[in-house]
Amino acid sequence: MNRRNFLKAMAVGTIASGIAGKAFAAEKYFPVKADQGLFETINRVKDPSNKTPLEKSHAPVITAPATVKAGESFTVEVSVGQVVHPMGPAHWIEYIELNIGNEPAGRIDFEPKGYLNPKATFNVVLTKESAPAGKLTLVAHQRCNLHGYWEGTLDITVT
Ligand SMILES: [Fe+2]
Repeated sequence: MNRRNFLKAMAVGTIASGIAGKAFAAEKYFPVKADQGLFETINRVKDPSNKTPLEKSHAPVITAPATVKAGESFTVEVSVGQVVHPMGPAHWIEYIELNIGNEPAGRIDFEPKGYLNPKATFNVVLTKESAPAGKLTLVAHQRCNLHGYWEGTLDITVT
């Protein structure tokens, strides 16, 4: 084998081992077959009037008053989908986050031990400055180890 062919063979071997290495990494971190596309984006409900089974079981649902008063405490509940999501060691909700508009407000982490229904309750107090136009969007995220990062939103009025 001359030097040129040797270098070609080395390059092909390096590329092949790189691809094989990535496949191995995917198997290592996703021992159960998972749709990798769900991990490449923020997943949202596409058609609220016709949710898919995956959207029904993963899109965060926010429950909060439609109108709140600045300076007064209120409760924001975030549940994961409309059905109870598994919380076992192979498939579970890792965390739930709440943002007030673009500002992170809080996050609750879960353990994959099957004890909890993945729901989070946040007590929130807004200032008048937090909603200069009198409107705010609550943004909730959750991450499922098999089904990726999901977002749900709810618009509220602040008086
Ligand atoms: Fe899931």
